Amino acid sequence: MESRDQDTSGLRTDVAHGARIYDYILGGKDNFAVDREAGENSLRIWPALRVHMQANRSFMHRVGRYLADECGIRQFLDIGTGLPTSPNLHEIVQSVDPAARVVYTDNDPLVLAYSRALMLGSEQGRTAYVAADMRDPQSIITSPEFVRTLDVTQPVGLLLIAIVHFIPDDAEALRVVRQVLDVLPSGSYLAMSIATDDFDPVPLAEVQREYNRLGETLFFRDRAKALAFFDGLELVEPGLVQVHKWRPDGSDATEIADKDIAMYGAVARKP
Ligand SMILES: C[S@@+](CC[C@H](N)C(=O)[O-])C[C@H]1O[C@@H](n2cnc3c(N)ncnc32)[C@H](O)[C@@H]1O
Repeated sequence: MESRDQDTSGLRTDVAHGARIYDYILGGKDNFAVDREAGENSLRIWPALRVHMQANRSFMHRVGRYLADECGIRQFLDIGTGLPTSPNLHEIVQSVDPAARVVYTDNDPLVLAYSRALMLGSEQGRTAYVAADMRDPQSIITSPEFVRTLDVTQPVGLLLIAIVHFIPDDAEALRVVRQVLDVLPSGSYLAMSIATDDFDPVPLAEVQREYNRLGETLFFRDRAKALAFFDGLELVEPGLVQVHKWRPDGSDATEIADKDIAMYGAVARKP
């Protein structure tokens, strides 16, 4: 694979990095030798990792399309955006309505370095980027980019895709989601994917150790803990399921085995 081995952002390229490992496994180009090695190590431990990550990404695509197309949502807040990997959320929702607006947020300086690629919204729509830590939701919802881009008197699609596994404390993770939802009006939607080891726990414990060795957090939640994020909201069909089972559209390349997907996903409406 062709990759950039010259770092122009001044960031360290000698230490593996979670967002770049994810990029490598997804087939992206924004990674370095050390990330590819770490990615290959994790793939050796759990060969399903690539299928699992691709299924998560394609869940995000279907969710974006569903919210824009079937629910009429025109503004989105995506927390924990990751490195740009086309199609990004704004490409999906602006293909439904070019005027749709997206605010991306991540706490990773590397994602910030690449955020210009995320800013390329359509002419009518707008895309903004907030560099913030989700554990401080106030810094997101009071940021000038958020305030300028989204109108919180109108429904918003809030996405937290493959991100709460970075917060091991359940109360803290729930607080983060609630604090953002609280400023959004009725008719807004929450979409999440949540890492779980409910389906193939043995190799996943080893993947977790490998991530911890690299200084990355990876915390799994069981079904009950995943469902708790949606308390008080109206889950849309089919409820909380593994991500590949959430409104599949036939675009996943191969037949996916349940044990290969370590991620729950769901979408719910704020009443
Ligand atoms: C596995 S990637 C998921 C990317 C994208 N949402 C997707 O599913 O394809 C997780 C992202 O969350 C970001 N992240 C981790 N902890 C965070 C925090 N405390 N605040 C904001 N972003 C965070 C990481 O930098 C990374 O880009």
